[in-house]
Parts: sequence; structure tokens; C-alpha cells
Amino acid sequence: MSVIDEIKQRLDIVDVVSDYVALKKSGRNFKALCPFHQEKTPSFFVFPERGSWHCFGSCGSGGDMFSFVMKKEGMDFGEALRLLADRAGVTLMPKGKERAEDKQIEGLYQINEAAAHYYHHLLLNAKAAEMARSHLSGRGVSQEIMESFQLGFSPDSWDALRQHLLDKGYGEDELMAAGLVIKKEGGGSRDLFRNRLMIPIRNDGGRVAGFGARALDDTIPKYLNSPQTAIFDKSGILYGIDRAKGAIRERGLAIIVEGYMDVLAAHQCGMANVVASMGTSLTQKQVAIIKRLTKNLTLALDADAAGDEATLRGLELARQAFSERLTSMPDWLGGTSKLRGNLRIILLPRGKDPDEVIREDPEAWQRLVDEASPLVDYFFKAVTSRLDLTKEEDKAVAAEQLLPLISEIEDGVERALYLKRLAGLVGVDEKALRDQWAERRRTKREKAGQKVSLPSDSSMRHPLEEYCLSLLLQHPELRSKGSELLPDYFEGTENRELFLAWRHCPSVEMLHQSLDANLHEHLDSLMKRVLPPASEREHETALADCLRRLGEQRLRRLKALEEMLISEAESEGDKNLIKEPVETLLQKALEPSTQLKDVFEKGKRRGAQQ
Ligand code: UTP
Ligand code: MN
Repeated sequence: MSVIDEIKQRLDIVDVVSDYVALKKSGRNFKALCPFHQEKTPSFFVFPERGSWHCFGSCGSGGDMFSFVMKKEGMDFGEALRLLADRAGVTLMPKGKERAEDKQIEGLYQINEAAAHYYHHLLLNAKAAEMARSHLSGRGVSQEIMESFQLGFSPDSWDALRQHLLDKGYGEDELMAAGLVIKKEGGGSRDLFRNRLMIPIRNDGGRVAGFGARALDDTIPKYLNSPQTAIFDKSGILYGIDRAKGAIRERGLAIIVEGYMDVLAAHQCGMANVVASMGTSLTQKQVAIIKRLTKNLTLALDADAAGDEATLRGLELARQAFSERLTSMPDWLGGTSKLRGNLRIILLPRGKDPDEVIREDPEAWQRLVDEASPLVDYFFKAVTSRLDLTKEEDKAVAAEQLLPLISEIEDGVERALYLKRLAGLVGVDEKALRDQWAERRRTKREKAGQKVSLPSDSSMRHPLEEYCLSLLLQHPELRSKGSELLPDYFEGTENRELFLAWRHCPSVEMLHQSLDANLHEHLDSLMKRVLPPASEREHETALADCLRRLGEQRLRRLKALEEMLISEAESEGDKNLIKEPVETLLQKALEPSTQLKDVFEKGKRRGAQQ
């Protein structure tokens, strides 16, 4: 599966478009005022089943989620791809245009690794590191952990690291770009980290992307972290992931704690499936990293932070990622769509973090992990603790926040129990809640139904489009004829992008260069495709045939969509849809037919000529 297919499978076009446009449900589809031209009645439609959108109004534009984002954000394909990949948690190849930047990035990793090596050596050997060593031994951190996590020490100097790295041949600007030094007033630079315990932060590929640096006295901040650089984004990394990855897969469970020291303690006591979010509330990127490894996630929450907004937001993110989406990505775990995410919460004893719990009694930590409460229980606690359930409006809030969660519980008995509990809490009879819930379930089932009926549309190949592109790529003499094609003829995202790029690139070499790296494989496969040997003239005929058939396919697609809209408007009695657009839609539905007829006629005539 290509990254593009993967993104389409993980994201719902309705969600993507909803970020920009207020969509209203209309039968199985969604509609809105077209964001690309001025209009008074909605003629912009999103078709979740096909993963496409189309404006039946005067602008007539349409496409998939990629073209939507491109158009709306004014992005090129690569930018839209990166935006959506990020959102879907799909890892992309580095940008094709940025081969030179790849080199720079590699340089940044190397410089960070050299720094980690330097700091580590000092921690193990330098006299000045005595404080750091005793800090660690005082906390029971073993020699083995110190070495496997390559902990280090930054000396109390303005330029020890700087000098060391300059001596090794790195440039001042590289040091700066890696965030290891900062500008000095009056020119030059100085070490950022001084007199601190150094904790190299590695990405999931095991490369040092930055550092966390703990003060050894009362210096503020307690932890100084690398600034954001081209390779370090704190919100996109989980500390310890490189060493935890294997254990997470093996045990089928990831545990997320907050701090560096918590990770070290857990790994030291043999729980290697532990990573840290590094003090911030969980981000989408972090959740996405875990999601690729396991469907079971347990979060250790600090008793104080447990109820606050940021924590809840992080949890909501994790919840969405771990429960809803699973059904729509069946092959994620190579299993069936029945698999559901399992998100649990460890509420830490007040005033303690995992490091302290573990140091006191590793078995107590193990018990906390084993007895972690399901997210629903936790939400009951978290939501109700902020409310006064003797007040009517607070009762309503509780029901509103908890019902969606309850409605998502797979197991019927369990669901009934929670419903009962909620009914008790808010003093409403279960029946009323049940009705609210039934409504939710209905809309949910509709959504789920859409997913199931998705005929793996996104990974559907488009043989005719690909054949046509192979012809154009392998036979440069067809260029002028090929220019008659329209981007809209291509339904496949890769194909459309390739075609767009082909129009601007007179040679395959240029095309390769201008194309996003994620499309190179597709380009190569089209270049390699074996076409039947034929004369130049036969190629021309074949291309003409492609042109005609692609145009015809496009019109058929449009017509099918329109027909669906019309029949839905009629059967569902959607007043809004019927009131205005049906008339015009009917009119338009006829247009493609007329155009189709036209195309057929042309085709026939051409056939007769040959
Ligand atoms: P903690 O204050 O709980 O740190 O912050 P800790 O890891 O338990 O460290 P010790 O036990 O005091 O040595 C949790 C995490 O929040 C981030 C760090 O990632 C830290 O591990 N943090 C905290 C910062 O980035 N900066 C700070 O100033 C404080
Ligand atoms: Mn701590």
C-alpha cells in the first residue's frame, strides 16, 4: 500500500473537509456552500464512500482530500501530503526536492551524536562530573542504565562542547542549527548546556535528535531541553521509544509516563515498554507513534494534573485514535476489524511519580499497571469531580460528556452497567439516557456502514489511468496529444499528481526531480511497465482511445454522484435539498448525459474512420 493509500484509509474525507467548511449531512453524503466560489445555496458535496468531493455549482471543481487541501491551503502536492500524513500518523520519505537538505539533516544527527558521546565520556570519567554521578547513584540509577541510555554530563563551561566539536571539524553554523550552542552578545556562540546531567533524546530510529538536561542544583529551569531544530520536535518524540519499541510490540502494551527519570527507573526494573511524553500533554504525533506498535496504551497520570484541561484533551486525542479509527483500518494489525483499542489510566498516588513508586517498591508499580482503570472509569471520575451533581446544568454536562464514551463500549453488558451508573449519577431515568444513546448509535452505525461499504476505494487501482500515463512517459512523441488530457480525468491521486507534473516537465529526468519523493516509486513502476510493441501511429491511436475513455469515465462518475444525490433527495424527502437544487441538479444530471453522448459519437466516428 502506498503512503497515499494509507493516508486515505486512515483519514475520513469528511473530517478533513470539516476543518475548513461547515458540512451538513445530506443522506449518505455531506453538503455545504462551496468554499471555492460565491453561492447562496449549497452545491458543494462530500462523498464519504468514494472519498471525494465535488462542486456542482459554477466552479465545478472536485477531487479527493489531497486536492481539497491543496486548493484550500494553496499548497503544492508535497505540502498537502505532509500535512495529511502528519495528521494520519503516516511516516513519509524525506522530500524529494530536498536531497541537499537530507545531507544537512544527516549532519545534524551526527553532531548530536558526537555531543552525546562527549557528554557521556565526561560523565563516566571527568572529575567535574562527580556531582552528576552522585546524583544518579543517590537515585539508584545503575551503571548499566547510565550506559545504555548514554547519560552524560555537560561541564560548567561556556565553550567546552563548542571547542570540542569545532576541533572535530564541525562548523559554528552546524552547532547552532543543532541547538547545541546559542548566540553570544557581540558575536560568536556559547554552550547551551552547562553543569547539567545530559539525557540524549533519541527518535524511534535510535538517533539522537536532542537533549534533556537536568540541573544538578536549584538552577531554573530544572530541565533545559534542546530547542526545536530541523530534527527535534519535542511534541513528536517519546523519550525512550528507541529502547522501548521492541518490548511494546512483544508485550502488546505501551505505558506512557511523564518524565525522563520515570523511564529510566522503569527500564531498570525490567519494564522496558515504558516511554515518556516529556512533561507535555499527549500529542497526536506521539499517539500515532504508539499506534503503529500496539493497540494497548496505558497512561500514568499525576494525581494533580489528572483532571485538568490539557490532560483531558490529550486523553480525548488518544481515545479517538485508539477506539474509533481501528475499525476503519483493518490491516493495521493484520487482524480483523473487531479489534479495539484498549486505553487505560494509572492514577498515581498523590505527590508521587513513577520513579518514586518504583524505587520504593517495584511490585507496587506492577500492581498499578495491572489494575489500571479503563478510560471510561477514569472519565467518570474526572468529569464528575469537576461538577456539582446536585445542579441540573451540571447533570446535563455529565450526561453530554459521558454518553458518547458509553455508547462506544463494545460489550453490551458492560455498556448497560455504565449507563446505569450514569443514570444514577445524574438522577435521570435510564430510558431517557437510552433514547439519547440510541440516537447516537444510529448516527454512528451510519458512519460505520459507510466505512464498511468503502470498496477499499482508496487503494483501488486505476488501470486505464496508469496505462495512459505509461504511454505518455514512455513515448515522448505523444506529448502534444497528451496535453489534451485534463487533470480531472485522473481519479487516482498519484496519477493526477504525476500528470500535473508531467505537463511541466519536458523530460523524465526533470519529472523525477520535480516530483515529491513519495511518488518516485509510482513513476518508476509506470516507466517500467511493459507496453505491447506497436508503431508510432498505433500509440497515437491508443492514446486517443485513452483520452476518450478517461473523459467518459469522468462523466460517468459525475453522473453517478448526481444521480445518487437526486435519488436521496427524493427518498429522504430532504426538504432543503429538494427545494432548490434538485431542479438544477436534474438539469445538470442531463448535461453529462449529453456530453457523454457526444463523446460516444466521436468515438464511433473515429472507430469508423480507422
Ligand atoms: P518532572 O518535574 O516530574 O521531572 O517533570 P522528573 O522527570 O520526575 O525529574 P526528577 O525526578 O525531578 O529528576 C516531568 C518531565 O517534564 C519535563 C521533562 O521531560 C521531565 O522529565 N520537564 C519538566 C521539562 O521539560 N522542563 C522542566 O523544567 C520540567
Ligand atoms: Mn521525578
